[in-house]
Amino acid sequence: METAMNVHAALGAHRLVPVVVVDDAGAADGLAGALVAGGLPVAEVTFRTAAAEASIRVMAARGDVLVGAGTVLTVDQVDRAVAAGASYVVSPGLSRDVVERCLEHGVAVLPGAVTATEVQAALELGVSTVKFFPAGTSGGAKAIAALAAPFGGVRFVPTGGIGPANLHEYLALPCVHAVGGSWMVPRDLVSAGEFDKVAALVAEAVALTAGKEVLV
Ligand code: 3PG
Repeated sequence: METAMNVHAALGAHRLVPVVVVDDAGAADGLAGALVAGGLPVAEVTFRTAAAEASIRVMAARGDVLVGAGTVLTVDQVDRAVAAGASYVVSPGLSRDVVERCLEHGVAVLPGAVTATEVQAALELGVSTVKFFPAGTSGGAKAIAALAAPFGGVRFVPTGGIGPANLHEYLALPCVHAVGGSWMVPRDLVSAGEFDKVAALVAEAVALTAGKEVLV
């Protein structure tokens, strides 16, 4: 497992976190290959399907993809994700139990926070990188800029409703560490095993981040 510091450095270097929904773990290796081929060896595998845990195991075992678990809602899912090899855990909201279990494991955790109260709760738990979700309907980049003003050291990973057309609005903010999204890993293409098409979408997304790395 990567250290939390290494995980944050890698996410900040890539600037993008592909959010994937895998319906069948049989697609996990091909998906990982597409991410590597496209130049973005990072994935947030969401616990929205029964295949998540097995998919994380397959992808993490390759050793060439930074694999995290997404949509983690329970302590049990934290344990399963870490046992499967996840290097980081992402939650849509802020659960004290989930965060504390991640800290016990020493795994990087990005809880969701879209209000000042939620950001403060994250800080009280020792977490300063949060997911801003759902970004588009929570006010978008303008809302993040306003929310960041009182929280100098907080870094945001906006996700939800972001795509090639508005990615730049988020990447332009110094407080945005990386941006999450599913547009470069469409569920139907992954399920259909169309990994060349996924790799092409990933490469297009990477091209949009050129020159926008952040240093941790
Ligand atoms: C997530 O879980 O982070 C979102 O569902 C991804 O949002 P998107 O599909 O709008 O990119």
